[in-house]
Amino acid sequence: MNTSTTELDRQWLQMMELAQQARRRAHAPFSRFQVGAVAAASNGKLYAGCNVENASYGLTVCAERVAIWKAISEGDSQFTRLAVAADTPTLTPPCGACRQIIWEFCGDIPILMTNLENQWEILSCRELLPRAFDAKFL
Ligand code: THU
Repeated sequence: MNTSTTELDRQWLQMMELAQQARRRAHAPFSRFQVGAVAAASNGKLYAGCNVENASYGLTVCAERVAIWKAISEGDSQFTRLAVAADTPTLTPPCGACRQIIWEFCGDIPILMTNLENQWEILSCRELLPRAFDAKFL
């Protein structure tokens, strides 16, 4: 885990801040666990999302998927990067379901995990989801 942001370029810094801001908009009355995410499209546009929970817990959508669905619904379906922010001392990674979605919709992009102290780490999607299943097998 990195504690200094000096190595991050401008886009990562912006995504980190936007993910932390999006996290505050989380609708998480059941878990109280707030997450923000930002997906960067290849045209440079940034799409932020937060987790949105539901009384029927299984209908909850994670912040990562909200960000990706927002981009796709706006016509942007090529992605270069993803950032995820939560308020945890050990950086929160995308859940297993989101790893699959990120792999299928974004490919092997870098994923920055961060917290409210601006600590961060970047892992590739492949590192988070080795030997992924996807449409190539169908
Ligand atoms: N959650 C996310 O939004 N993204 C993650 O990477 C981990 C989990 C949400 C789902 C649920 O609303 C809450 O966090 C607790 O699991």
